[in-house]
Order: sequence, then C-alpha cells, then structure tokens
Amino acid sequence: MEEKKKVMLSGIQPSGDLHLGNYLGAIKNWAARAEEFDCYYFMADLHTITVRQEPAELRRRTLQQLAQYIACGLDPEKNTLFVQSHVPAHAQLGWVLECYTMFGELSRMTQFKDKSAKHQDNINAGLFTYPSLMAADILLYKPDLVPVGEDQKQHVELTRKVAERFNNLYGEVFTVPEPYIPKAGARIYGLTTPGDKMSKSVPEGCVFLMDKPEVIAKKFKRAVTDSDRENCVRYDKANKPGVANLMDIYAAVTGKTHEEIEKEFEGQGYGVFKPAVGEAVIETFRPIREEAERLIADKSYLESVYRDGAAKASRVANKTLAKVYKKVGFLQP
Ligand code: TRP
Repeated sequence: MEEKKKVMLSGIQPSGDLHLGNYLGAIKNWAARAEEFDCYYFMADLHTITVRQEPAELRRRTLQQLAQYIACGLDPEKNTLFVQSHVPAHAQLGWVLECYTMFGELSRMTQFKDKSAKHQDNINAGLFTYPSLMAADILLYKPDLVPVGEDQKQHVELTRKVAERFNNLYGEVFTVPEPYIPKAGARIYGLTTPGDKMSKSVPEGCVFLMDKPEVIAKKFKRAVTDSDRENCVRYDKANKPGVANLMDIYAAVTGKTHEEIEKEFEGQGYGVFKPAVGEAVIETFRPIREEAERLIADKSYLESVYRDGAAKASRVANKTLAKVYKKVGFLQP
C-alpha cells in the first residue's frame, strides 16, 4: 500500500505583486518539496480585504499570482493550487475558530498592532480576527509543516494553541502544526532599506518577478551597500547589512557560497558587484517572467487549474469542517 505523504501548506496574500523576497524566501523552496509532501498552496484573497483593495487590481493580482506560482515551478499536477475564497470552508471554519480564540490573544499579535497603527482609519474587526482565519486555513488540511516567514511565526503559534484548546474540549480533531521558518539567507531585505524585509511598500528597493531587465538593473545599481566606504565585498551582517543582503541574494540565485563570492569580487568594488548581482537576478527571473506572461494569456488553462485545485482542496477541507460542526453540536443539515 502506498504510504501516506506528509502534508505541507502555505499561502501568500495577493495584496501586492510577487517579488524576490517571496521567491527566495518561499516559493522556490516550496517547489522543491512536491515529491516529498502532499502540498497545498493558495492565494490568500480573503485576508487581503482586511486592508482596502482596488477590486479589479485584486482580481488581476490573484490570477497573476497563480500564473507565477506555476512559472516558479509549482506543477499543478503535483501541488494543489487554489484561491482561498473558492473554498468556502475557510470562512466557515474561520468563524468557528473565532469563538475559540481569545480577545487577549488577538490583542497581542504584533501584525495587528503594526497594521492598525498603519491604517488608523480602518481598524476593522477582520484585521483583528485575521489569525483565526489563518488558523482555519491551516487546520482544515491537517498539515505537518507550515512554511512561513519569521513575521508569521506568532500566527502559527496561536494556531497551535487554538488547535490544542479545541482538541482538549472535543478530542483529536486537529493536527497541531509545526511552523517551518526557512534558514537565514532565505530572508531577503529591501535593497534601499537593508534593515527591513523586502516589501512592496518600498518599491524602489523591491525587485518584482515581473520587472523588466532594465528595471531590475537600475534597482540593483541603486542598492544601498554600507556607509564605511570600504568598498569591499565582505560578509559582515552587523556592519554591512546591505552588502550581506546582496551577497545572500547572489548566493541564492547562483548557488555560490559567501567565500566564493568574496573571492570572485576580490579587489573589485561595489561598482562591479552590484550590477553582477542584478544580472544574476535578471537571468533567474527571465524564464519565470516569460512563462508567467505566457500563462496569463492562457486564461482557460489557469481557470482549469484553479477549479481543479478548489475541488480537490474542498474535498479535504469539507471533511474537517463537517467533523468540527458535529463536535460543536450543529444539527446535521
Ligand atoms: N498571513 C500570511 C501572510 O500574510 C498569509 C497566510 C494566510 C498564510 N493564511 C495562511 C500563510 C496559512 C501560511 C498558512 O504572509
């Protein structure tokens, strides 16, 4: 008999276009796991409306994100790719879990504190209960592993707590998931703000998957290196975070080690190093961008992928949801 594969799940909000940080920190690593795990990846569109979105843009980005997932190597034959809002069980379990998540717990979430400080005119209830919906996203599929960025670790920890609370009341309904934070180097910082992770909110320091080569080249030429004017390619994260970030990027796309990179650019300054990193990223992104563009033009194919994905995800999700509904005492329809 075939052994049951472990389950892996993650999602990205289509609230911005995908960038180098998403690619190196997440998607590239996901693509490598398809044989080993039963993988679910989704566009977390329900989460995006906790902040106001332009509807047509949200639709465009959701479809584009699917095309980019595939172009980055997530084969829809081997991974379940779907749109969160196409699987109603997410919202349904989200509501139930809101009733098993405490006000105090949600109040302590740093993402809520940050986002409510940033959007003071729109501190809505969804922004507050966001982690309960994320817990539902996760628990529906009983994943063993949930790869997330450092900033989402707190949410996965809360998911574990909610799952344990529910299981203590009703028996083993949920699998308590492990967060999986990719190792250092997978975390990419903004090219102009090496103290902060790469983000679409600082577009001049953010390299998007769909950026044209000349745009990428320009962004790398303007990357911040260091202030000590040493002009030497050396890995020193504390004192030269900009250079370290560029070296991490170069290492990730070329497979070279930091020592090899230091050797390669010995005696050469940032004026040579920065364009070289840009060139390496351009060549990594070129086939991805071209494939994504081709897929975006093939709407009927993308539709078939997200329909199949939602159907498959729903089968799994609805089973968990039915069990939960029964446990809490809802009358069977
Ligand atoms: N909250 C995540 C983020 O903003 C996206 C997300 C939503 C997610 N649901 C998830 C990630 C479930 C992993 C698992 O990045």
